[in-house]
Amino acid sequence: MSRRPLLVGNWKMHKTVAEALELATTIKNSIAPAVRADGVEVVVAPPYTALHPVAKRLEGSTVAVAAQNCYWEPQGAFTGEISATMLAEVGCTYVIVGHSERRQHFHETDALVNLKAKAVLKAGLRPILCIGETAAERDAGEMRNRLVGQLAEGLFGFTPEMMEQTVIAYEPVWAIGTGRVATTEQAQEAHRFIRGYLHSLLGEVVKSVRILYGGSVKPGNTAGLMAQPDVDGVLVGGASLKAEDFVQIVRYNEAAAS
Ligand code: PGA
Repeated sequence: MSRRPLLVGNWKMHKTVAEALELATTIKNSIAPAVRADGVEVVVAPPYTALHPVAKRLEGSTVAVAAQNCYWEPQGAFTGEISATMLAEVGCTYVIVGHSERRQHFHETDALVNLKAKAVLKAGLRPILCIGETAAERDAGEMRNRLVGQLAEGLFGFTPEMMEQTVIAYEPVWAIGTGRVATTEQAQEAHRFIRGYLHSLLGEVVKSVRILYGGSVKPGNTAGLMAQPDVDGVLVGGASLKAEDFVQIVRYNEAAAS
């Protein structure tokens, strides 16, 4: 089953509104050939403050917008929080949930990630659910247990229909922002394992679910990762902040061909 490659830029807590608009405009104007030639799907995830202006700027383009987080209730007395319903209103189509930085700095548990993912789907959006082991877990031979735990709890109560709308991002914590990318073999091994486990949970639908790799993705390593049979896209942090780098990542096929 063919899965449309998905390339996502996570801008984290970077960019003023003016800077975000500039970056979004350059990306929009530079990626058209890649989207046409290879049919890739491109998404950017600006900070909350820039979501609405960036979504407006990208309206009618081939670049979609994601939020980096959300709350699970649709509205209410939850000072400082933003619901998936609100994100749908400002033009988002995806929401990243369970990023390792949220797990680490904001103590998000798999149970909370599950509530968020369900709220995203209920709002008519698609969750990009992040999972991944730490270096200590990998060294202790616990990688598979960790991934299974995150998937089992994060996807608790999911039906095949819900899974179909969901994207999984495998981001080994030791590779995020460290410059230490997983080898293509390590990425493929983890992705194949994830797909196999998801298949045991939810069946055939999993063949169409995209599994992204994240962690120190750069223009130079994208084509190698994308060549792996179970790597269906990338979730890019640092390198997505520079238009030139992100555009090269999106156009990875041209680099691979030259
Ligand atoms: P990085 O971040 O590309 O800077 O390693 C990836 C991520 O956190 O999604």
